[in-house]
Amino acid sequence: MDIHKITDNKKEFIELLLLGDEQESMIDKYLDAGDMYVMYDKKPVAQCVVLNLGDGVYELKNISVSPEYQGKGIGSKLIDFISETYKSSGKELIVGTGENPDTLGFYQKNGFTYYKRIKNFFTDNYDHPIYENGIMLQDMVYLKRKF
Ligand SMILES: CC(C)(COP(=O)(O)OP(=O)(O)OC[C@H]1O[C@@H](n2cnc3c(N)ncnc32)[C@H](O)[C@@H]1OP(=O)(O)O)[C@@H](O)C(=O)NCCC(=O)NCCS
Repeated sequence: MDIHKITDNKKEFIELLLLGDEQESMIDKYLDAGDMYVMYDKKPVAQCVVLNLGDGVYELKNISVSPEYQGKGIGSKLIDFISETYKSSGKELIVGTGENPDTLGFYQKNGFTYYKRIKNFFTDNYDHPIYENGIMLQDMVYLKRKF
């Protein structure tokens, strides 16, 4: 599978972006400034968006894998790719997520550990309740790892 950096028409991948972050107005806050990568298996199957926060800190703002490709190691490959791509200039990769045990498990499996919590991030910033696996997301939990 090939990974391509996307510089134009990032919204072409809105379906994949919405899998990782379900409110388009929130995606709009980081999409232009972020580096976007799309993995193809002939068609686009996964994407991620990485934002440079400065001082060697990068934030993974969005990551998603098409439902039929999930659980096959593709998300982990994207994390490895990010690590390789930014390790010369990067010190730390951070990611914010809701308290969905599946997603937390994915990040922990990929070397992330707890960093901090932003109370009520989802309830304060999203215009509707976000449910994942029947759980309403409330706080944003940040995790971090070294490159
Ligand atoms: C979370 C996500 C990016 C992980 O990518 P992936 O390619 O499915 O994950 P990998 O195959 O590399 O890793 C599998 C691990 O991820 C976790 N996981 C999370 N969501 C999963 C899913 N839908 N299917 C399978 N595993 C999932 C499990 O811990 C699994 O470990 P296990 O196989 O030991 O049970 C992907 O499942 C996805 O796009 N989910 C929907 C969007 C999303 O939640 N994005 C993150 C927003 S913060």
